[in-house]
Amino acid sequence: MKALDFCLILLLLEELCGSTSGLRWLALATVGSVDHIQKEEACDTLSGLVKRQKKICKRNIEVMHAVKKGAVSAIDECQYQFQNRRWNCSTVDHGSAVFGNVLNAGTREAAFVHAISSAGVTYAVTKACSSGQVDKCGCDRSIRGKSPQGFEWAGCSDNVAYGSAFCGMFVDARERAKGRQSSRALMNLHNNEAGRLAVEENMKVQCKCHGVSGSCEMKTCWRGLPSFREVGAMLKDRFDGASEVEEQKVGSRKKLVPKNTQFKPHETQDLVYLEASPDYCISDPETGSLGTSGRTCNRSSKAIDGCELMCCGRGFNVKRRVVDERCHCKFHWCCYVKCQQCKKVVDEYVCR
Ligand SMILES: *[C@@H]1O[C@H](CO)[C@@H](O)[C@H](O)[C@H]1NC(C)=O
Ligand SMILES: *[C@@H]1O[C@H](CO)[C@@H](O)[C@H](O)[C@H]1NC(C)=O
Repeated sequence: MKALDFCLILLLLEELCGSTSGLRWLALATVGSVDHIQKEEACDTLSGLVKRQKKICKRNIEVMHAVKKGAVSAIDECQYQFQNRRWNCSTVDHGSAVFGNVLNAGTREAAFVHAISSAGVTYAVTKACSSGQVDKCGCDRSIRGKSPQGFEWAGCSDNVAYGSAFCGMFVDARERAKGRQSSRALMNLHNNEAGRLAVEENMKVQCKCHGVSGSCEMKTCWRGLPSFREVGAMLKDRFDGASEVEEQKVGSRKKLVPKNTQFKPHETQDLVYLEASPDYCISDPETGSLGTSGRTCNRSSKAIDGCELMCCGRGFNVKRRVVDERCHCKFHWCCYVKCQQCKKVVDEYVCR
């Protein structure tokens, strides 16, 4: 049997030969409206879910709105954190792989997208719990009593344990479904976990003061979610410091170890990757890279957003535009500000 035929059969049987990224469920982000996910039968029509995820969907239909929200915010955050990079987390419209082929290889970028997606679901499910949208979960009531700092735990602490556990069940399902785990599956599982941890690590103590005119005689506090931007920024830092790993057999099990033995082993919260990234310079259907031609760049920056690196040495065109701007603003007593309209010339640099 030819490898291709074998692959096609496996595709029919779901899994394995499909996207190795295990992120097809992100297609949920493209489901028109959440009203599509009201009844259990809807789970079968959602594209991108493996059998186990469909089962989880049916048993947790009220959580699925949050999963969809998590997918949307993960993609948004990825595009924000990567806006100045050659690969800018752009999505494609066709097929069920939201990012096209880019994540098929076990690169740093794939590591980040797995982590932010997992964080997105953890975050959104946790939020749904606190806001009372899900019967099965609510606030975290395990945090009670007086703290060592002297404040009283009260109010609704966000139930990140529930969000994280649900995420582990749903997001890891594709990787866990496979019998023998490939090194790519191990990579995905590790980065999924790192994403959940990034949410947990950023939980904040939030407080309210009680007493006459805000004197704070009594303080009540709860553990709350950070902004999702903070989670994204932390994961972007971990993307920058990600460890290259390879598979090692330990008895009958496999684990990931640093490729360069001089580096210290990665920890649970670190991102790991198996393959060096392509340069994403030119459009290449094979890797799914769109290339950087047409991207705007920053002429005065020496970093990756600078024209030299962004345009991969091909050079750039200057687009001169005239924009209207408020200027000569004066404050008038009392109380308004009056401005004039001025024309300003701005140059935009666009990669060839
Ligand atoms: C991302 O890059 C693609 C081409 O590589 C471009 O078409 C798109 O406008 C970029 N998106 C943003 C938000 O800059
Ligand atoms: C361009 O890069 C310079 C130097 O890094 C930075 O100060 C400036 O804010 C950047 N401009 C834009 C529009 O991002």
